[in-house]
Amino acid sequence: MSKNFDVVVIGGGPGGYVAAIRAAQLGFSVACIDEWKNAKGGAAPGGTCTNVGCIPSKALLQSSEHYEHAGHAFAEHGIEVKDLTLNVKKMVARKDTVVKQNNDGILYLLKKNKVTFFHGRGSFAKAGAGGYEIKVAGAGEETIATKHVIVATGSTPRVLPGADFDEKMILSNTGALAMTEVPKRLGLIGAGVIGLEMGSVWRRLGSEVTVLEALPVFLGAVDEQVAKEAQKQFVKQGLAINLGVKIGAIAVGKNEVTVNYVDDKGAAQKAVFDKLIVSIGRIPNTVGLNTEAVGLKLDERGFIAVDGDCKTSLPNVWAVGDVVRGPMLAHKAEEEGVAVAERIAGQHGHVNFNTIPSVIYTSPEIASVGKTEQQLKAENIAYKAGTFPFLANGRARALGDTTGFVKFLADAKTDEILGVHIIGPQASELISEAVVAMEFRASSEDIARICHAHPTLSEALKEAALAVDGRSLNF
Ligand code: FAD
Ligand code: NAI
Repeated sequence: MSKNFDVVVIGGGPGGYVAAIRAAQLGFSVACIDEWKNAKGGAAPGGTCTNVGCIPSKALLQSSEHYEHAGHAFAEHGIEVKDLTLNVKKMVARKDTVVKQNNDGILYLLKKNKVTFFHGRGSFAKAGAGGYEIKVAGAGEETIATKHVIVATGSTPRVLPGADFDEKMILSNTGALAMTEVPKRLGLIGAGVIGLEMGSVWRRLGSEVTVLEALPVFLGAVDEQVAKEAQKQFVKQGLAINLGVKIGAIAVGKNEVTVNYVDDKGAAQKAVFDKLIVSIGRIPNTVGLNTEAVGLKLDERGFIAVDGDCKTSLPNVWAVGDVVRGPMLAHKAEEEGVAVAERIAGQHGHVNFNTIPSVIYTSPEIASVGKTEQQLKAENIAYKAGTFPFLANGRARALGDTTGFVKFLADAKTDEILGVHIIGPQASELISEAVVAMEFRASSEDIARICHAHPTLSEALKEAALAVDGRSLNF
């Protein structure tokens, strides 16, 4: 007899494992199926985020930042480092340990919450009157039955035609996070989030990094003023950023990759790299789900078609995270996972798409929530803006990191905060204050009147909020 569950979650990334835990907390019998394998072939739940995304990239960003600081930033503090050496293998091994700690932590959490974990591929076998049968193909093969299904199968890197990933010379995020030597000449196609984060890691470790981006503008989705400052800083750090290029033939040799492209002036160019990272976006992962068996609908871009509540075209089948529309972010996937579990329990699941923060973990960090200035203009919304530079913040000066600013955008009439954009130290942590404020529909005056500890970077938010009405105290 097949095992029977109330809820089966296919995919154990941030969307899937969190949905499984929440459903179990709500009293359902839950299974979570995930196929990710570690180097030894064992289970490694946590998905892209844990294995080849958020966590390992932040581990390497931290290590490479330490190296860069030891190389020159410490000197300003009177700390002189002699004979600095770099052990990339050790750095990458530490990153692998951090990943494993997270894999193990998720396995522990699933067990603690009595979620049955299956290591293997889940696919739809058939739909019946009472629910669905899901095939699990791992070490063996079995079929389990369930009333509800949550699909959380994530995404995979988009392949540039003519440049298949071999993870040796042409790297996706997976290969970019696993290099054990610093390539002298590193090419990067796509100046998006992955390109900039990975480019930062390897530049700090010594690579000459060349970025080739198709769009004529840098970080087009980011607030223009912030994007401009970011570009200035990255160029100053040594990233060679080429915008408006058209990639042509790519030839892979034994030890180098040649990229032919047309630059923004229409001239044919050729660049030769030791390694090439291609980061031109990600596509939803529905391969092997056997959606046809049950008639689960995909949208025109290949995502699982869902409504605002993550309901699919089939009764009691839900989908969350990167495999559905919306930003491809771990915290968005998690929020959707929790909301779906609560909806299955008859509760009111809540995801506010207007207050999902987004962060680029470069140095300086870039963090934002809500509308950009260009969006407000395009939507004809009357607004007031206030900015405050970290240069005028005492804590930033003490840290020795005064790059960037905080920018508040508030409704011209009601003063409600419509967007907050930060470029500078600890932007990833600072943005939470703005998210909370926007979730509670605060005005910029609310933030301006709240006591912030001194000396902290968060005072820059208060000052930017004060600047909305032209009454900054420290600038
Ligand atoms: P995934 O994490 O992709 O998980 C899906 C899981 O399902 C995988 O384990 C997969 O193996 C499994 N699976 C797929 N099909 C099946 C099947 N049929 N049967 C069984 N299992 C299956 N986001 C952030 O918010 N912050 C960051 O700092 C950040 N950094 C990133 C850095 C990089 C380099 C990359 C690539 C991404 C980063 N992201 C970041 C994005 C983030 O990783 C994704 O948004 C997030 O992982 C999506 O979660 P998910 O659960 O939808 O899918
Ligand atoms: P992206 O969408 O951020 O950037 C892709 C870039 O490649 C764009 O600038 C695009 O214009 C460019 N591009 C597309 N086709 C091209 C071509 N043929 N030639 C040259 N340039 C081309 O995608 P990326 O960086 O691959 O990351 C995927 C997703 O992963 C992100 O959108 C984000 O959701 C998530 N992510 C989030 C992170 C975070 O939250 N800190 C970190 C890394 C990834």
